[in-house]
Amino acid sequence: MAKGYYISKVVAIVGILFTIAALATIIALSVLYANEKDKNNNVPNLPETTTPTSSENTKGPTSAPSNDPWTKDRLPKTLTPYHYDIRLKPVLKKNDQGLYVFYGKSEAFFTCVAATNLVIIHSKNLNFNTSPKAFLKDSAGNNLAVSKIDEVPQKQYLVVHAANNLEDNKNYSLYTEFVGELADDLAGFYRSEYKEDNETKIIATTQMQAPDARKAFPCFDEPAMKATFNITLVHKPDYVALSNMNPISQNNITEDEEPWTETVFAKTVKMSTYLVAFIVSQFESIGDPGNSTTTGVQIWGRKKAIKDEGQGDYALSITKDILEFFEEHYSIPYPLPKSDQVALPDFNAGAMENWGLVTYRETALLYDPAESSIGNKERVASVIAHELAHQWFGNLVTIRWWNDLWLNEGFASYVQYLGADRAEPTWNIKDLIVLDDVHRVMAVDALASSHPLTSKEEEVNTPAEISQLFDSITYSKGASVIRMLSDFISEDLFKKGLATYLKAFEYNTAVYSDLWTHLQLAVEAAEPSLNLPLPISWIMDTWVLQMGFPVVRIDTGSGFVSQNHFLLDPNSTVNRPSQFNYAWIVPISFSKSGSNENFWLQYPGDVNPNFKTSGNEWLLANINVTGYYRVNYDDGNWNKLISQLESDHLNIPVINRAQIIDDAFNLARAKYINTTRALDTTRYLSNDTEYMPWQAALNSLSFFTQMFDRSEVYGPMRDYLKKQVIPLYQHFERETKNFTEQLESLTDQYNTINSVSTACNYGFPDCVVFAVKTFKGWMESNAIIHPNLRSTIYCTGIAEGGDAEWDFVLQKFTESSNAQESDKLRSALACSREPWVLNRLLEYSLNSSKIRRQDTVSTISSICNNVVGQSLAWDFVRAKWKTMLAQFGGSSFSFGNLIERVTRRFASDFELQELEQFKRDNQEVGFGTAAQALEQAIEKTKANIKWVTENKEPVLSWFKEETKA
Ligand SMILES: *[C@@H]1O[C@H](CO)[C@@H](O)[C@H](O)[C@H]1NC(C)=O
Ligand SMILES: *[C@@H]1O[C@H](CO)[C@@H](O)[C@H](O)[C@H]1NC(C)=O
Ligand SMILES: *[C@@H]1O[C@H](CO)[C@@H](O)[C@H](O)[C@H]1NC(C)=O
Ligand SMILES: *[C@@H]1O[C@H](CO)[C@@H](O)[C@H](O)[C@H]1NC(C)=O
Ligand SMILES: [Zn+2]
Repeated sequence: MAKGYYISKVVAIVGILFTIAALATIIALSVLYANEKDKNNNVPNLPETTTPTSSENTKGPTSAPSNDPWTKDRLPKTLTPYHYDIRLKPVLKKNDQGLYVFYGKSEAFFTCVAATNLVIIHSKNLNFNTSPKAFLKDSAGNNLAVSKIDEVPQKQYLVVHAANNLEDNKNYSLYTEFVGELADDLAGFYRSEYKEDNETKIIATTQMQAPDARKAFPCFDEPAMKATFNITLVHKPDYVALSNMNPISQNNITEDEEPWTETVFAKTVKMSTYLVAFIVSQFESIGDPGNSTTTGVQIWGRKKAIKDEGQGDYALSITKDILEFFEEHYSIPYPLPKSDQVALPDFNAGAMENWGLVTYRETALLYDPAESSIGNKERVASVIAHELAHQWFGNLVTIRWWNDLWLNEGFASYVQYLGADRAEPTWNIKDLIVLDDVHRVMAVDALASSHPLTSKEEEVNTPAEISQLFDSITYSKGASVIRMLSDFISEDLFKKGLATYLKAFEYNTAVYSDLWTHLQLAVEAAEPSLNLPLPISWIMDTWVLQMGFPVVRIDTGSGFVSQNHFLLDPNSTVNRPSQFNYAWIVPISFSKSGSNENFWLQYPGDVNPNFKTSGNEWLLANINVTGYYRVNYDDGNWNKLISQLESDHLNIPVINRAQIIDDAFNLARAKYINTTRALDTTRYLSNDTEYMPWQAALNSLSFFTQMFDRSEVYGPMRDYLKKQVIPLYQHFERETKNFTEQLESLTDQYNTINSVSTACNYGFPDCVVFAVKTFKGWMESNAIIHPNLRSTIYCTGIAEGGDAEWDFVLQKFTESSNAQESDKLRSALACSREPWVLNRLLEYSLNSSKIRRQDTVSTISSICNNVVGQSLAWDFVRAKWKTMLAQFGGSSFSFGNLIERVTRRFASDFELQELEQFKRDNQEVGFGTAAQALEQAIEKTKANIKWVTENKEPVLSWFKEETKA
């Protein structure tokens, strides 16, 4: 289907094809328009109406069993919660059975909106210890008669059958007492541990997203079921309790003959269950707790990190700024009285935007100038900005159901750059979205096994289906298309529409098209007026309803422009139909002779006379890569662009230098241009010292490394890269006075790191000698290494060294109390060239007393980056698959990433067979959240095999030619 529109390079026949194609697009659009009108007619502001199915089911279990509401993944719409009273007491020492548990009492208040005798509420792994298990009450607090109470673990429900129907429009409540395990599974209410002063300290903390609030207390655990929460935490007097809101009272009490403190928190605003959070710990804080007139901002973490080492100071210094930035950006004051940021030693995701109580991995919040690199600092600023962006977009206005997760995460992943830019205005961080999101996700979205941003509400039901949505398409493609939209309507109009959207849906939920509606209103009210070719929703539908993205081809001879669905493997089959037949409405910005213009490509092909060039004039499209597409040109224009790079690269903006390289390599992969043409774009790099083009080249060439580092191509390739990087290395060696100083700019610091790691990696002797000497100085006399260079120095020291070096780094890793330093040490351990050492590290990765569970995947990944380690890791994953699924299957452990990393180098028939065998062997146990990743791995392996066969010879001779003495 994707091929239906193939437009020949021969302009003569283009006219006919073009007409047919355009017609098809117009038909597609009018179908869409009809749907859109329909939607608009019955989508005024919520609230949801009830469905007749649920009341039919009140007939009870005798009717068709498959229709019983407790067999469904979604809650019936008969009950609407409005408040919870929750009291939780986590006990931070083992009980007689050797388990950590928490005790809870909860009352869920709800309104019946359609008569029913069933109360179905989520509950997972909770043991109800009263008889009966739950008490159903009327609004006066009187117990109502109940005929039976069932637990339905398959669907994570507690089902209460009332003896009589609950009545429409009346309020009820369900009271329960329960015990749950405080396991170290990183989900729901869980336990985290750390060592301080030789003592093991225990924390009770939460991660409710996606559906794990039900593991902490019975609740209507769907994002649209918003309610208020009164939370009370019971803890030892020397512990501190935190929750979404500020504490309003504390009482000392005695329970089980022991002293306890009861901390009562203010009633929350109306919010979703997945944003509820509470923590009991001995953490300490810095910052201002706030009062009735000021919003409190505090940073919490281990005492040593926060109080002794000042690792929270950087976060504190930027959080208030970022919060204020978003207040302006959204034109809505921060809705809560305080914002706590908490660094947790064990945390599955990077961070979680719990309203008022944001939780982070330590590496995403803590920063120590003596130990952390510039990259660590950027991550802290970005993650804080991302989570604070959600406090409005996500928390105040929430997606109605998880199928719209991409809007929530894509938006935050875009505006995090704006928030971080406020905190660090000299960084030019906004440019980096091109490398870190746009280019990165295009690599995934160019596969035939990709998927559209949107999914239908009814396609996302089970917890596993929800977990699977948290992928790079959701985050990075979401960010890329929202950035494109913001760019073509202007950030100013985007902000206007955003503000009215947030106001219209605050404390409520919305769907993505609601945002389009508000942006459209802003565009229509714009002065001076803005001319879009079509309504925003039409334009955006082509980007969010179909997977993938176009490659736009501009012919600068004829002015003809066409688009095709860009597939990394041109022979792959696209099975997923698209109502737009894989055509997009593309905003094309372009530059010619120093002037910038815009053009809307609305058809598979079109002609714009302004695309024509003459003489030496070149044309460059997708300026600053604000558009989510790749660009190809006629040969003549490619030659002119490459000559321009070689004669004076500064005439091409830095982001577009990165784009030319990234596009060229990908176009070559997809066979639009020759691989050697792509390699040609890197020849000028010996004269460029900028980070973005270098990083684009290193990313692109890492594929070459993966494909060829076990073959004869490797030698000449290494020589070429060495030749290119030596001038860069020497430039930074000079500028930084032998790497003793750091340059001012963020990207210069990044490229200093690139120059050292690339030079050492490809064996430039000066670099290796420098690294080994520096490592020795550290190992033997504790000489300080600048944090920016540590990863490279540690890795080179281990690769060049033996057991003593490895053991030394392992020892440092065990002792380190800085999470970022630990990460650097841990990944360096994977640089060993000894298989037995790498196998030992693989074993450690599944042993949580050696390596924290949150770091399992990244440890195995770093072993895969090592040419020696890759096959060991694959053997290991295959051997341990069942164990790992059993151990981590219930959590949001990223099996998908694991499969992606471990198969990255696959490029032979033998490896393909192994992969397919793996798929067959584990059909029964399944693949957890890795089902999609496995399909993608198979597709990629097939493409790699073909690519290597076709490209090995030309690539080898190109490298040989370039490195001829
Ligand atoms: C921790 O324990 C070790 C050995 O058991 C001891 O040498 C050290 O002094 C202790 N440190 C503290 C802070 O108690
Ligand atoms: C509770 O007890 C702790 C020490 O055991 C004390 O510091 C605190 O002030 C007491 N709080 C109240 C509200 O009495
Ligand atoms: C919840 O807490 C507030 C105080 O924050 C209190 O006024 C209220 O009565 C409590 N219960 C309910 C059901 O709102
Ligand atoms: C609230 O806190 C701010 C900053 O700490 C302080 O300046 C102000 O006086 C406080 N206001 C009240 C009412 O306590
Ligand atoms: Zn997010």
